[in-house]
This record gives sequence, structure tokens and C-alpha cells, in this order.
Amino acid sequence: MDTGLKNRVAIVAASSQGIGRAVAEALAAEGCCIAMCARQAQALQHAAEQIAKHHRAKVFALPVDVTDPQAVHEFVEQTVSQFGGVDVCVTNAGGPPAKGFLATSLEDWRSAVDANFLSTVYFAREVIPHMQSKRWGRIITITSITTKQPVPDLVLSNAVRAAVVGLVRSLANEFGKAGILVNNVGPGFTATQRLRELAKRRAQAFGQSEKQVVAAWAEATALQRIAEPREVADTVVWLASERASYITGQTILVDGGAYKGL
Ligand SMILES: NC(=O)c1ccc[n+]([C@@H]2O[C@H](COP(=O)([O-])OP(=O)(O)OC[C@H]3O[C@@H](n4cnc5c(N)ncnc54)[C@H](OP(=O)(O)O)[C@@H]3O)[C@@H](O)[C@H]2O)c1
Repeated sequence: MDTGLKNRVAIVAASSQGIGRAVAEALAAEGCCIAMCARQAQALQHAAEQIAKHHRAKVFALPVDVTDPQAVHEFVEQTVSQFGGVDVCVTNAGGPPAKGFLATSLEDWRSAVDANFLSTVYFAREVIPHMQSKRWGRIITITSITTKQPVPDLVLSNAVRAAVVGLVRSLANEFGKAGILVNNVGPGFTATQRLRELAKRRAQAFGQSEKQVVAAWAEATALQRIAEPREVADTVVWLASERASYITGQTILVDGGAYKGL
């Protein structure tokens, strides 16, 4: 399948590990020039070097906190000056802590809104004018299965991710005529550092082993297993590609059938 992504410029936010890194890898494998960011410079640099080496890709990496609008502005500007534009923007950030409602502080809510909603606004504001000038663009947000089905003890994610879906649909409607397609990918349980941390907390809270927690999550899916980050990344590549040229405003779950609705 020709994805048409060769030499496209792709920003992948929050990409030193986990799903973001897998997306950066998969887009690099398709021939994209990659701009990556995360907060910790050393881990980011290591990931960027590995991706550049394995895929002979052009990779630009900058330490950026996606909750800082000025830092996002500078990241996008530097990407454009390095690579001559931006075609694909994948927004991502670390997930909010697992808590029930009464355990959350107002600070937790503000942090979740900053990281998991406003960061997408910051990137969209920066990249859309560049995409408009080329009359081609793809914005893909990474959220969660919580956009369709709330997960117990993830009230921050359950509530804040819904705003991203509203934004995605609005941007898709407003900028479709400029050739910009905007979609959302909602991962289910995916084998990353975040999932290991969530399993550890849940195991402590319920007196189970981490293995038991992960096995229960796997059992909740139709496929009876959790995902590899690469499986989420492949969906992002498809949405970024020419092969998904009539799809916009959608949320696609990559959850192995964990969502039980129609
Ligand atoms: N894994 C799952 O099962 C799962 C399921 C549903 C949804 N999700 C969501 O998918 C997203 C990615 O999850 P993941 O599992 O890949 O997480 P992860 O393994 O914890 O990786 C998070 C990545 O984001 C970076 N990051 C975190 N906060 C950042 C910030 N403020 N600015 C810039 N970079 C930041 C981290 O690097 P630094 O720490 O160096 O910044 C790291 O590279 C999260 O929103 C998560 O909630 C994950």
C-alpha cells in the first residue's frame, strides 16, 4: 500500500517513549521527516537518534513541555525552518493520574486540561496556517478509549478527553475546505510505561499482583490481550496517509474490542 507519506513533514508530540514514540517510528518508516518532542532531553535525544538510524530518517528533536504555548510555538517554527513546512501533526501528552472524583484536586483538573486538552489547541493554532498554505494537512489527536466509554478511576481522562473530541469535530468541519483532515485515535490498554504505572497503582489498591491486573484488562477485550504501541501507530499512519483521504472528524478506537457499545 502506497501511503503517499514519503518526504511529508510530521510533528509527533510527546514522543520519547510509548505510543508517541511508536508513531514517530512508524511515520519515519514511511519516509516522513520527523519532529519529536518531550520534556526530558536525554531520553528524547536517545529516541531521536535510534529512529534516525533505523529508518535513515531526518529527525529533529526539541525538549518541549506541550503545556507551554510559547514552547509549542517555537517548536513548530523551528520544525518549519528545518523542513520547510508541516504536513502532519500528531498531538499527544502524558495521561492524567488515576483517581476517583473525590480524590482529585483542582490542580489535578487544571493539569489534565492543560496537558490533555489545551496542548492540542496550542498545536492546532500553530500548524493550521502552515497546512492552509499548502491546502493539505492531517491533524491526529491521541486520546483514549475514555472518549467512548468511561474507565473506573480515570475521571480526569473520562471528562477532559471529551473536549478533544468536540475540538476535533469542529476543526474537521471548519478546515475541511482547506484540505485539512482532523481525526482522533483512542487507544485501549496498550503496553507502555503508563500502563505499567496504572497496573502498579491498581494492584496496590486492590491487593492483587500487577500480572492479575493486566490479565483482567486483557480479558475485558474481545481479542483477550493488550495492544502493542505499534498497533496504535499503524492506525495513525493510515489516517495520515493518502489512503484515508475521505475520513475526517472521526474517533477511531484501537482497543481490541474493549468498547462494548454499538
Ligand atoms: N498506554 C495505554 O494503555 C493508554 C490507553 C489509553 C490512552 N492512553 C493515552 O495515550 C497517551 C500516551 O500514553 P503512553 O502510554 O504512550 O504514555 P507514556 O509511556 O507515559 O509516554 C508519555 C510520553 O509523553 C511525554 N510527555 C508527557 N508529558 C509531556 C508534556 N507535558 N510535554 C511533552 N511531553 C510529555 C513523555 O516524555 P517526558 O516525560 O520526557 O515529557 C513520554 O515521551 C496518554 O495521554 C495516555 O493517557 C494510553
